[in-house]
Amino acid sequence: MATVTFDKATRIYPGSDKPAVDALDIEIADGEFLVLVGPSGCGKSTSLRMLAGLEDVNGGAIRIGDRDVTHLPPKDRDIAMVFQNYALYPHMTVADNMGFALKIAGVPKAEIRQKVEEAAKILDLTQYLDRKPKALSGGQRQRVAMGRAIVREPQVFLMDEPLSNLDAKLRVSTRTQIASLQRRLGITTVYVTHDQVEALTMGDRVAVLKDGLLQQVDTPRNMYDRPANLFVAGFIGSPAMNLIEVPITDGGVKFGNSVVPVQRDALSSTTDKTVTVGVRPEHFDVAGPESTQGVAVTVNVVEELGSDAYVYGTAEVGGEAKDLVVRVGGREVPEKGSRLHVVPRSGETHVFSTSTGERLSD
Ligand SMILES: Nc1ncnc2c1ncn2[C@@H]1O[C@H](COP(=O)(O)OP(=O)(O)OP(=O)(O)O)[C@@H](O)[C@H]1O
Ligand SMILES: [Mg+2]
Repeated sequence: MATVTFDKATRIYPGSDKPAVDALDIEIADGEFLVLVGPSGCGKSTSLRMLAGLEDVNGGAIRIGDRDVTHLPPKDRDIAMVFQNYALYPHMTVADNMGFALKIAGVPKAEIRQKVEEAAKILDLTQYLDRKPKALSGGQRQRVAMGRAIVREPQVFLMDEPLSNLDAKLRVSTRTQIASLQRRLGITTVYVTHDQVEALTMGDRVAVLKDGLLQQVDTPRNMYDRPANLFVAGFIGSPAMNLIEVPITDGGVKFGNSVVPVQRDALSSTTDKTVTVGVRPEHFDVAGPESTQGVAVTVNVVEELGSDAYVYGTAEVGGEAKDLVVRVGGREVPEKGSRLHVVPRSGETHVFSTSTGERLSD
């Protein structure tokens, strides 16, 4: 087992002047499950491929434990990778697929068999060992791909969107299996996904990338509670956080009739005339019509989910009509066209600089 360090690791593809990954700095602890997440093209796969040795590093360094692996070939890095397209060999049995890397490495047959059987037990594949991949379900094939990585007992697992070939329901159950398997094996893992829910549910920590730049690396809890900037605020959470530009008045911030707490010196550091206030849909309380706090929302669309419902409405904030999403209880669903009075819950508001996007509130 080992730590993994990206030390200002940079990748500039030939013919491009802009780095695909720009001075990436992350220290991953021994046994940690780190998820790299971000929109398409932000540099997730490139980061993983640099760690795997499949991509040149043009600046900075990558270390596994104390070893500088920046310029080592993939085979000398002691890693195992599970790709999105896990390409099992169709003519080989499950057992042969799982043991193939060991066979190439010249490991004795009996030892291969033992390791394959152990991995199959962990992955619940024992009864399929003699089958060919085409006679397996998508989820079972995915587990064979995991098995192929496990038998090698690497120092680090790398996974690039390993669940994207599975249907929605299987994805959910398989992500739980992978996360619990990783915890049991305790092998340091770097996992790539574009799905923020997958990132939050699986990762010990999550690293958010945008345009090749690391935005924040933090626990799922902190990512949700204290997003470092506007991008992370909008990216983490579903439906997305409401982000509304409001004027700064008398050194304070007002959202409708509610005062949003923000430190005075944080505000004085900005020359902007506005700040952006963030409130998650689940952090509004519905107040009675007589309430003098918060804002009035006109209901445009209601999305019912049974347990709760999302109200898509329009509110007047700072003299302008703004779109707002509010979560309400499943048994308190308002009529389309009606008006609702909502108050942001105290302690659950966020304030960001409109110009730089940086977080200003605590
Ligand atoms: N071989 C390559 N040559 C040139 N540019 C590349 C190459 N591979 C990727 N890129 C560019 O580098 C950037 C990062 O790509 P990367 O594949 O790392 O993104 P990603 O975050 O994995 O995206 P996705 O979620 O779509 O898989 C993109 O702008 C992409 O176009
Ligand atoms: Mg990718």
